Amino acid sequence: MRKQLLSLTVNGDPVELAVPPNYTLQEALRNDLGLKGVKEGCSEGVCGACTVLMNGAPVRACLTLALEAEGADIVTIEGLSKEGWLHPIQEAFVNLGAVQCGFCTPGMIMASKALLDRIPNPTDDDIEAALTGNFCRCTGYAKMRVAVRTAARELQEKAQD
Ligand code: FES
Ligand code: FES
Repeated sequence: MRKQLLSLTVNGDPVELAVPPNYTLQEALRNDLGLKGVKEGCSEGVCGACTVLMNGAPVRACLTLALEAEGADIVTIEGLSKEGWLHPIQEAFVNLGAVQCGFCTPGMIMASKALLDRIPNPTDDDIEAALTGNFCRCTGYAKMRVAVRTAARELQEKAQD
């Protein structure tokens, strides 16, 4: 199939790729850019493991055509830590036992990031709604909700410094 040129920004860097029209954003990020934090779970839009931010909104990379990301600003889990320091959401997930096998974790954290960017002080209902499309087979969801609340507090404190 004839490839087309795709220009986008990924984790702050400009990227150009040649991709077939039926290529997914998940394939482009994992296979071409080596961003394996974009997990490949169901590949049918059900589990949320492949969640990335596209222009600030959470999208399922397995359901998004790579060419739909033309000109977009994409952020994956690899783009959250800065200079070796974990993002407060990542830190909270690790420190509060919200990670077991870790397969769902990148998608959970990206969905949480989108939530906290939109609503810095979310209610429990907001958190539940934001994570409802992301599945975890290990931890249950209570520790994740605590981690998101903790990260929200941390981010608000940092914003006031
Ligand atoms: S891998 Fe995309 S939603 Fe499951
Ligand atoms: S930590 Fe294993 S699937 Fe969520």
